[in-house]
Amino acid sequence: MMKAIINIRWHIIIIVGLFIGYCAALRAQYAHVNKQIEPSTGATFSDKSKEDVFVKDLLGRMTLQEKVGQLSQYVGSGLLTGPNSGALSDSLLAHGMVGSILNVGGVNNLRKLQEKNMRLSRLKIPVLFAFDVVHGYKTIFPVPLAESCSWDLDMITRTAKAAAIEASASGIHWTFAPMVDIARDPRWGRIVEGAGEDTYLGCKIAEARVKGFQWNLWQPNSVLACAKHFAAYGAPQAGRDYAPVDMSPATLAEVYLPPYKACVNAGVQTFMSAFNDINGIPATGNRWLISDLLRRQWGFNGFVVSDWNAVVQLKTQGVVEDDKGASILALNAGVDMDMTDGLYNAYIPDAVNEGLVAMSTIDASVERILRIKYRLGLFDDPYRFLDAKREKREVCSPKLMNLAREAASNSMVLLKNERGILPLSKQIHSIALIGPLADNRSEVLGSWKARGEDNDVVTVFQGLKNKLGNGVTIRYVRGCDFLDKRENEFSEAWRAASESDVVIAVVGEKALMSGESRSRAFLSLPCVQEKLIDILRSVGKPIVVVLMNGRPMTLSHVDNNVDALLEAWFPGTQCGNAVADILFGDVNPSAKLTTSFPYAEGQIPNFYNYKRSGRPGDMEHSSTVRHIDLKNRNLYPFGFGLSYTQFAYGNLQCNDRFEADEKLKVTVDVTNTGSRDGAEIVQLYVADKVATMVRPVKELKGFKKVFIPKGQTVCVELNIDVHELGFWTNEMKYVVEPGEFEIMVGPNSEELLSRTVRLENI
Ligand code: NOJ
Repeated sequence: MMKAIINIRWHIIIIVGLFIGYCAALRAQYAHVNKQIEPSTGATFSDKSKEDVFVKDLLGRMTLQEKVGQLSQYVGSGLLTGPNSGALSDSLLAHGMVGSILNVGGVNNLRKLQEKNMRLSRLKIPVLFAFDVVHGYKTIFPVPLAESCSWDLDMITRTAKAAAIEASASGIHWTFAPMVDIARDPRWGRIVEGAGEDTYLGCKIAEARVKGFQWNLWQPNSVLACAKHFAAYGAPQAGRDYAPVDMSPATLAEVYLPPYKACVNAGVQTFMSAFNDINGIPATGNRWLISDLLRRQWGFNGFVVSDWNAVVQLKTQGVVEDDKGASILALNAGVDMDMTDGLYNAYIPDAVNEGLVAMSTIDASVERILRIKYRLGLFDDPYRFLDAKREKREVCSPKLMNLAREAASNSMVLLKNERGILPLSKQIHSIALIGPLADNRSEVLGSWKARGEDNDVVTVFQGLKNKLGNGVTIRYVRGCDFLDKRENEFSEAWRAASESDVVIAVVGEKALMSGESRSRAFLSLPCVQEKLIDILRSVGKPIVVVLMNGRPMTLSHVDNNVDALLEAWFPGTQCGNAVADILFGDVNPSAKLTTSFPYAEGQIPNFYNYKRSGRPGDMEHSSTVRHIDLKNRNLYPFGFGLSYTQFAYGNLQCNDRFEADEKLKVTVDVTNTGSRDGAEIVQLYVADKVATMVRPVKELKGFKKVFIPKGQTVCVELNIDVHELGFWTNEMKYVVEPGEFEIMVGPNSEELLSRTVRLENI
């Protein structure tokens, strides 16, 4: 009897033991799935308290080093190419010291990394995969500056959404875009990544892009967006990337901050802190900027990642003595995640133990990151975005190609069209196609081509052939290079031009003459390209120049020597088809510049909304705000762009007076007086005539892109909210003052109809 009881006891002990062991194994294996808590699928995120319980429980089980690991981001390619070739290592993964990996793409690659993380790490917290999907992932859309010239918010949302679908199908959770830095200086190479010089338009485009990337937030066909580079990265001294930023608080608040705020309002989930300092305080160590303004005042509750090595660079900026000081400064300022330099992992655990960083600061940052992973459903399924079949189906699909073509032609700005030489007739006999970008696959993709492939690119040469078939002779000659000054191809180019009916010259910058750390002091066509144009001009045939570049350039020489000039920017994968659509009139150009083109570099900064001066004007023999050797004008002003049809503006109407709680309704009649249907971007500018601070001569406050059939008139209505008529003081207070405002409407920032209105009772 006793023996039987002992036997039963042993059985019970063994069974209970096995059960406990099994549970422990399960817990170790699937610590990310808390059985009692049942994490959300990430689909609805309806039960906030489930998320709270899950995150708190997980946080409670993490060691300090594992917590700091969640705040650390590494470049992942090292692990894929060999154990010692990158900063990321098996050992980091095994110790739970990797929260995120950047710039690795492709389901297979990412699966390998995630599997390794799940196998090696104790708590098995999924890694977040990030990538610079700036203007497309594999299907490359026009560079952001180009797209901004479409002023087509719906299209901009659609291309961001398409990029999100493609990137997420390839396993990416998070893009480092949009870049919403206002840029008033074309020397700065990163002007190519933004929406140009205007804050009002910049805000609308920032919102459109966030909406596009995050179109189906938390689902595996959408990505998290990242507003960057916070803040004022677009205003470095002399346009040199990474240089200090010095500006009045009023200008910061009025010109540079609003697009970031627009991203918060649009629900952006992450922010990136900038490399630069603002008035002496580095953005990445700026508690006021990140914790007070962004989090407390604006209510942002996602997480902030530093820019690449921006934490360690606090040391080079000279605001801390050593790496440890840099990591402490950044984290205490509110930078949750440290990109690439590994400083948080190296120093923050000690700093916490020494009381230099509060545990509550760490917990708050870790929580933000865990919540995002939770909402993405990664705790349910770390491989949720990794579906090879979907990748095959979605990447480079024909639908994306059509959108890339539409976006490219909608973004091209027609700057000159003498005697209506464009569009060209499809019945033309022969074309001389000349220039280093005429049959170039690689450069036309622009500076952030993500995983875009040259082989997918339709060059201009190919695009013309697609459009014209075999009936038209196309004589292609490269003519010259962008860097090599040799002129040995000139004679062949001359011959091709002389044997053809028309010359199409495709010239401009190499892709990496703009973009990060690609500031330029001279903005004319690089190398011997202007000479090439001169040679072609000497032939005497009509010349059409198609420009591809990432910034405004000084184009007087080109402008004087050609018949037509099309600013095509870097158009992306569908480059050639889109150029052909415009040149041969299948698409009527409708884009307008979002950045002013100066005559000379000496005019920079040359933005349209400059402030009034006590000595305005351009008079030759007087002391006014001018250069003695150049007029205060741009070659092509902000908002400028031609169409193959013409539009006439008339009958500008609005009330003479309006009050604080009203919207000011402005109407204008726009008539398509030409012979083709077309779309016009109607622009509304406002000037505050008398204010307690010096105000800009004009500011964009509204626009509408309207399609107008030939011969028809459309009455366009634009509304201004009174709130938008205010300005920021140096105390960073927003004030709206009563008084007179000039309301101006027209086709660009210079040719404007105007009326004066009075704002009462504020
Ligand atoms: C540095 C760039 O400034 C930033 O825009 C980019 O997102 C990161 N590198 C990551 O590649």
